[in-house]
Amino acid sequence: MLLASQAHSSCSQLQSNQQPPTTDMNMMFQNTVAIISGGVSGLGAATASHLVKHGARVVVADLPSSIEQFERLRSSIGVGDEKVLQFAETDVTSEEDVVGALNVAEREFGEQVNLAVNCAGIAPAKKTLSIKQNDDGSTTSRLHPLSDFTKTLEINVAGTFNICRLSAERMSRRCPDENGLRGLIVNTASVAAYDGQVGQVAYSASKGAVVGMTLPMARDLAGVGVRVMTIAPGLFMTPMLAGLPEKVHRDLVKLVPCPSRLGDPVEYATLVGSIVQNPYLNGEVIRLDGAIRMPP
Ligand SMILES: NC(=O)c1ccc[n+]([C@@H]2O[C@H](COP(=O)([O-])OP(=O)(O)OC[C@H]3O[C@@H](n4cnc5c(N)ncnc54)[C@H](O)[C@@H]3O)[C@@H](O)[C@H]2O)c1
Repeated sequence: MLLASQAHSSCSQLQSNQQPPTTDMNMMFQNTVAIISGGVSGLGAATASHLVKHGARVVVADLPSSIEQFERLRSSIGVGDEKVLQFAETDVTSEEDVVGALNVAEREFGEQVNLAVNCAGIAPAKKTLSIKQNDDGSTTSRLHPLSDFTKTLEINVAGTFNICRLSAERMSRRCPDENGLRGLIVNTASVAAYDGQVGQVAYSASKGAVVGMTLPMARDLAGVGVRVMTIAPGLFMTPMLAGLPEKVHRDLVKLVPCPSRLGDPVEYATLVGSIVQNPYLNGEVIRLDGAIRMPP
């Protein structure tokens, strides 16, 4: 077990070139070295863009197949040849891949990460058991495959935890700031953790687990100065939702009381930025959802 005192003692040797601690808001972003899982798309991409535009250095950790999408993100942010935005081929469920992504931050930015944002995730839609009445009076039943359930937990829960634990170890090597803080983890749950709909049994179970991790992980990591927060988004306009038919979109929007529209990924990114800036936020889940409560 790594104790706070051990982390302190190794700090000066490992991070002698690290920036001094600061409470200045702009400097806070300039001192931010982030890993963002699932960062080529949707909420993760908006967060990468927001952070880089405010002066942070970011490693986007996403599947190898997303390299072209990363290049598009890179040009949309307009960083040119600057090293501030890097890509690391990463499956979040692999220890080797995540260690590799954290090494990219260390190598390219000369510092360990002090922010980990977990946005990698999948959202399958299947019922526990569905029984359909056929025209001839017979019935067809379809059972939720166990493999789909475990795959969802593997990526959304174990993958999130994998990034958290390995990032926390890197953060523990940094010098503490004036609050004794070395880093921040922001996980992404969903309103489905609370109001899961029909067909969301695996997804809701996985997001409930992310909510459940928040407080104990914040307690576990308090001694090393790492905060843990979770955002539970409502309905956001990302590729995860963009594939749905227009009528479904219109119906979904009607569910959002105020403002009555889908969330903009920039609003998620801005909340991550606010959490970075507010050191007293820890061990809590914030719903970001326009007051939506999903019906069955
Ligand atoms: N969009 C929404 O309305 C919404 C609402 C609530 C919660 N969320 C959650 O927010 C997170 C981001 O959602 P999004 O809408 O931006 O989704 P998205 O599909 O746009 O992005 C998800 C990213 O995760 C990556 N990914 C998937 N499996 C991975 C793996 N094993 N290793 C590494 N990367 C992997 C994908 O390549 C993709 O880039 C997800 O956890 C999702 O469940 C989204």
